[in-house]
Amino acid sequence: MDKINILIIGSGGREHAISKALSNSRSSDVLFAFPGNPGILEIATFADIDLSAPHTIIDFCKEMNIGLVVIGPEQPLSDGLVDKLKAEGINCFGPNKYAAQLESSKSFAKDFMKKYDIPTAKYANFSKNNETLAHDYINSVKLPIVLKADGLAGGKGVVIPETYLDAHSLLDEMFTGKFGNAGDKVVIEEYLEGEEASIFAICDGNDFITLAPAQDHKRAYDDDKGPNTGGMGAYAPADIVNDEILEIIKNQVIIPVLEGMKKEGNPFIGCLYCGLMIKGNEVKVIEFNVRFGDPETQCVLSIFEGDLAKLFYSASLSKIDKSAVRNIAKSYSCNVVLASKGYPTTYENGFEITGIEKAQNSDTTVYQAGTKIKAGKLVSNGGRVLGVTAQGETLQDAINKAYEGVDQICFDNIFYRKDIGKKGLK
Ligand code: AMP
Ligand code: GLY
Repeated sequence: MDKINILIIGSGGREHAISKALSNSRSSDVLFAFPGNPGILEIATFADIDLSAPHTIIDFCKEMNIGLVVIGPEQPLSDGLVDKLKAEGINCFGPNKYAAQLESSKSFAKDFMKKYDIPTAKYANFSKNNETLAHDYINSVKLPIVLKADGLAGGKGVVIPETYLDAHSLLDEMFTGKFGNAGDKVVIEEYLEGEEASIFAICDGNDFITLAPAQDHKRAYDDDKGPNTGGMGAYAPADIVNDEILEIIKNQVIIPVLEGMKKEGNPFIGCLYCGLMIKGNEVKVIEFNVRFGDPETQCVLSIFEGDLAKLFYSASLSKIDKSAVRNIAKSYSCNVVLASKGYPTTYENGFEITGIEKAQNSDTTVYQAGTKIKAGKLVSNGGRVLGVTAQGETLQDAINKAYEGVDQICFDNIFYRKDIGKKGLK
């Protein structure tokens, strides 16, 4: 294929990793980014567009001859950006608004799974109009249970109450707006035991290819304690997803999603993120996301070999070219998120960051997430600030190198988990 110009939308560590892989792709020409971050904008050109005014994106794509738009985060996908761009003949890697409901509405996703026989936890959906029924339901089931705000909540809308009292008050908090409109509906589901893994399937509506399985660390503190976050670190490949488990995931989860979405008239194009609970040979879906996961992507793409631009482009045209992938896992990788103390609730920003250059080498990359330039200096500007991602021959090697990188980096209020990857060493 001819080289194409690409526009990537997003500003996190995920988009930094995707940008790096795209800019290293043979099929990519000029890479543009919006809004980007200081790390992304070292390898991409800033695109002067406004997400809330889609005509600015359409005009930009036409003027710059953009062959592909890659949308990183869930919000623009669930707002229907793909539908608007495609209506103007602009190619996108990402699902349309209907298919994006697999992430933007947990009740939609649960009903979809039930309809297409995809294994998941038993559940019931409630809206705030039938609050009493929801409380009665809690009283009728055994703990532990899981309460999930229906809408997008940045990975923070899921709680696992320890007592019935907590369950009732957490439900009240959701219904009274703790997560804004996202909590107008709540899914109450059975608690699943097992080990978690994330699988990314690059989908073209009919067919797909999976990338290296990864394991995220969602809780804020070591030993999986503390509140849920967007993710504090990851490693890949996660060996818990062996060949047999992968076949189960393909047959029981990914293929039924693709078939189901086709039947609903909205073929799924983009990255289908399957968040899974694995116990023995049983796989259940915890959640779907309709985009790459962060920080898992930083691991998955740092060990990927191939032409990512070609893979995305061919998938966007519903003709996935699997030969664009040479190797999904040339080694192991480990990512440690450097966050601001207080994340995922409140934290201070604006502290100077040093040591990135020293941390980086041929095996280690520091991806930027919550950063900005202030008075010529790189400063912290978010809950998750950086992701230090290293590769190694073994998982232990990748972990060691990631933490060697972490040791080089300083900013006030730095906070990170010390046990990333440990679960995979068994
Ligand atoms: P979600 O946003 O749905 O992925 O949920 C965030 C995290 O909460 C998951 O990664 C799990 O660690 C946990 N979780 C969610 N649903 C369940 C469940 N049914 N059983 C056990 N843990 C869950
Ligand atoms: N790391 C979890 C997510 O991206 O949703």
